[in-house]
Amino acid sequence: MGIPKKGERVKLKIDDLAYGGMGIGKVDEYVIFVEGALPGEEVVAEVFKRKKNYAEAKLIQVENESEFRITPRCKHFPLCGGCRLQHLDYDRQAEFKKEQLTGQLRQIGGLDNPPVSRLIKSETPFYYRNKMEYSFGVSREGQLQLGLHPRRSFGKIFQLDECYLQSEKSAELVRKIRETASGMGLPGYHVRKHTGLLRYMVIREGKNTNQRMMNIVTSESAEKQVGELCETAINDFGDIDSIVNNINTKKANIAYGEYENLIHGEPYIIENIGDIKYKISANSFFQSNSLTAVKLFNAVVEQAACNGSERVLDLYCGTGSIAFSMSRQADKLIGVDSEEAAIEDARLNSELNGITNCEFYVRDSLDYLNILIGQGERFDVIVADPPRPGLHPKMIPLLGRMASPKLIYVSCNPSALARDYAGLKEVGFKLEDVICVDMFPQTPHIEAVALFKYAQSN
Ligand SMILES: C[S@@+](CC[C@H](N)C(=O)[O-])C[C@H]1O[C@@H](n2cnc3c(N)ncnc32)[C@H](O)[C@@H]1O
Repeated sequence: MGIPKKGERVKLKIDDLAYGGMGIGKVDEYVIFVEGALPGEEVVAEVFKRKKNYAEAKLIQVENESEFRITPRCKHFPLCGGCRLQHLDYDRQAEFKKEQLTGQLRQIGGLDNPPVSRLIKSETPFYYRNKMEYSFGVSREGQLQLGLHPRRSFGKIFQLDECYLQSEKSAELVRKIRETASGMGLPGYHVRKHTGLLRYMVIREGKNTNQRMMNIVTSESAEKQVGELCETAINDFGDIDSIVNNINTKKANIAYGEYENLIHGEPYIIENIGDIKYKISANSFFQSNSLTAVKLFNAVVEQAACNGSERVLDLYCGTGSIAFSMSRQADKLIGVDSEEAAIEDARLNSELNGITNCEFYVRDSLDYLNILIGQGERFDVIVADPPRPGLHPKMIPLLGRMASPKLIYVSCNPSALARDYAGLKEVGFKLEDVICVDMFPQTPHIEAVALFKYAQSN
């Protein structure tokens, strides 16, 4: 059988699950990714994208189902771009993530036997997110929309009726706000024409404190309209602690405000991760799964195994949550992040918790590491939690020069971790242990905590 053409239907045996959640089948050695197909299944799929080395196909029929296939809970599956693995039993989802992480370290990193020692699952595979961003828009018929984006169509929105990622209350708020805004004739924002008022509704929930914030992002100041909208839709603010209106006048489609109007309560909520308290405002960065974040941070604390005397450098520290988690076990911690707002939050939160051994600086991590090396500073442990692209290539030789005994790399991108592993090995680090943490059930995202030890003899 030759390579199938676009539009052609093929019968495939699915051998594996790709990073991203697609089933992998092969025609001879030619790889075909099938959305929604699971390993062990025989399926009929129709090719819709054909490249030199691979094709992508739509699932037409499952001829024999995997024992791990389940009925998705949400009626918006598979349309919604949020959950891509809801058709797979949760325990198997998490195991696949561990296998994918191991596979990336083997294929990209060149490790024969990657030391992935543990998988930490989420205890709450649904209703775990403490933040959700819902988008407003306008349908072709001119109807106000409020919902999420369909898979592969970030420019489009579908009307959301239910969602199991945050809470029942959030889905109810989406329905009520949409209905009321529509009744009031408030215009949704048109992403191509850049017209209309309502852009986003962002809900934050303190999973450990039961506090809730609603942020309506508009294209211009709309304190009066947003106040009226919320009062009419919700009428009793009993379980909403904070309502704000953020204003984004720019074309960039982000739920971030240049300034903010306070509509109700305080402009922040409080959330706890472990025994650390965080004050979170509308534009603060915060780990989105409070319940599993504590397990991720505990994994870092465990790998660092500090005894109270250590100096720790937290690169890409964000709002300082990793530094705070380590603050009782270490002597002194320095955190650095390029986002001024994140560092402001980190300083504020250290005060709120009475933590006195953490210092935070707004700097580029690479520049700061260079400065520290120039000053002859030494650290016992370096933690790095870089964004998705991974470490800046110039950072790797600097980490080698710094030669701290332990480097803990927190990664949200296994292929970047695997690539950086190869570089870190070159400069003298040995990978000792990797823990896979499933922070985002139902989605393909994988988080890992990797312990490297400096061993120049490599
Ligand atoms: C994955 S987040 C880390 C979150 C952090 N561990 C926390 O819990 O708040 C990555 C962070 O890297 C920061 N960042 C991105 N590029 C940077 C750079 N060149 N130098 C310093 N920080 C950077 C971002 O602002 C973001 O806070």
